[in-house]
Amino acid sequence: RCQSSSMEKSKTSKKNLLDNASNLLTNLLSGGRLGSLPTAEGAVSDLFGRPLFFSLYDWFLEHGSVYKLAFGPKSFVVVSDPIVARHVLRENAFSYDKGVLAEILEPIMGKGLIPADLGTWKQRRKVIAPGFHSLFLEAMVKVFTDCSERSISKFEKLLESENSEIEEIQLDLEAEFSNLALDIIGLGIFNYDFGSVTKESPVIKAVYGTLFEAEHRSTFYIPYWNLPFVRWIVPRQIKFHNDLKIINDCLDGLIKNAKETRQEDDVEKLQQRDYSSLKDVSLLRFLVDMRGVDVDDRQLRDDLMTMLIAGHETTAAVLTWSVFLLAQNPSKMKKAQMEVDSVLGGKKITLECLKKMEYLRLIIVEALRLYPQPPLLIRRALKEDKLPGGYMGNEDGYSIPAGTDIFISVYNLHRSPYFWDKPDEFEPERFLTPKANEGIAGWAGYDPSRSPGAMYPNEITSDFAFIPFGGGPRKCVGDQFALLESTVALALLLQKFDVQLRGSPDEVQLITGATIHTKSGLWCKLRRRASVGAKQNQLVEV
Ligand code: HEM
Repeated sequence: RCQSSSMEKSKTSKKNLLDNASNLLTNLLSGGRLGSLPTAEGAVSDLFGRPLFFSLYDWFLEHGSVYKLAFGPKSFVVVSDPIVARHVLRENAFSYDKGVLAEILEPIMGKGLIPADLGTWKQRRKVIAPGFHSLFLEAMVKVFTDCSERSISKFEKLLESENSEIEEIQLDLEAEFSNLALDIIGLGIFNYDFGSVTKESPVIKAVYGTLFEAEHRSTFYIPYWNLPFVRWIVPRQIKFHNDLKIINDCLDGLIKNAKETRQEDDVEKLQQRDYSSLKDVSLLRFLVDMRGVDVDDRQLRDDLMTMLIAGHETTAAVLTWSVFLLAQNPSKMKKAQMEVDSVLGGKKITLECLKKMEYLRLIIVEALRLYPQPPLLIRRALKEDKLPGGYMGNEDGYSIPAGTDIFISVYNLHRSPYFWDKPDEFEPERFLTPKANEGIAGWAGYDPSRSPGAMYPNEITSDFAFIPFGGGPRKCVGDQFALLESTVALALLLQKFDVQLRGSPDEVQLITGATIHTKSGLWCKLRRRASVGAKQNQLVEV
């Protein structure tokens, strides 16, 4: 059995190699047929000197909002225009797949929503998306609060153990947010407490190892891991497969347990949307209870793995950049703290409280505008298509052949000088004053009439000028989960602490893989605020 499974794997590797070769060929051919597009010639040094999305931005200003990027014989179409983005993501979504992204993620996520083929995706999206309904999200607010409070109490204990006169601790908040987001995704999605805020475990190490490898693969341009035998000889690939096995075993155990403990009582409560008396409110419980025990275990595991990876570092990054921006804008931090004080007082956070914390919510979306996760969306045309010219492009649009690889630069859209005033500035308030601009996709931002009931600006309120969660049928399923989670965590942090950067903002260099993160952590100084609503301590430099 062992021998036949290794033969299968070697067949799969050969198939992947052939697929890669054929994709490269298609790409070379299509590169030649993208003649009508302005062209940016990329040098290999552009890939290594600094994050690629910076270069894509410079070329956007130089060549316009739809251009061809040629790296030697390989080429991509880079889109920085809301109308073209809307066409690819929403209007003609099913003419595209995830291309190279699916190739990278498939070994990790299997047939999970992100890399899934269209047939599987259609079936699973219908099952998973309803799981994120409003009562689930309301129940999640408690999970977000409990986990955030664990982080806060860890910081408080660290402060207490400080013997210095100045009550201050220095922490890498990026690492802390990463642990927090892992705990939340574990409990919210499959009722598993990683407890990573307070401890280390083999499963936690395996999750980080897998994320690290996913990131490596997304920035490494030759997929050597598909070569036969590599997984048995290259140390990092051996480690990767060991890590995957640890996580898979853990998820398999949770799925088995969820199926064995399925109770008709709980199903009734779920059907009546009575979450108050349920002990386990996780998405896994919903998927197993509502769909019965005959759900395919392998598929369920791929779904959970996908959400674990998709919902962890992304949310941690939003919190990291929100704090980075606030720490440079003390008056905005104070404004946010006053909002938290006035809404919460001594109360626990509820969904109703979050609805009242408008400024905090806008801080989160403004951080997502400036530091979108991921900064690029990747697509490959499954058939020939005609891209619209967009706001600044050629009136006739652009014909692209099947096989064309497209990068939708979310970073460029979010910082486009054509759609945003002072695009590089941190101005959460910008979403409060819709701009009545004519002809240009309004970044209108906060026009509730375009998306009634939306708590946060989104791609609809901005007509695709702001697409932090993508758009169209493949839009993030966890968007509201992530936004509420980030708002709760930020509110609880600011309620208790004043935060300052330890060094200068320039020292916080960025690097990218799937998300934008810091090179060596977001080192901050935390001081306890005197008391909620009372006169506060002044930050003292040490
Ligand atoms: C898809 C962003 C949090 C699960 C996406 C996409 C984006 C995104 C941009 C679309 C990708 C594309 O079109 O190629 C984010 C950001 C997050 C976040 C910025 C945090 C701030 C989460 C969370 C979960 C999640 C918490 C799950 C609990 C997914 C899934 C997909 C997805 C399953 C694939 C959807 C599909 O193809 O049907 N996310 N995400 N994400 N996200 Fe998120």
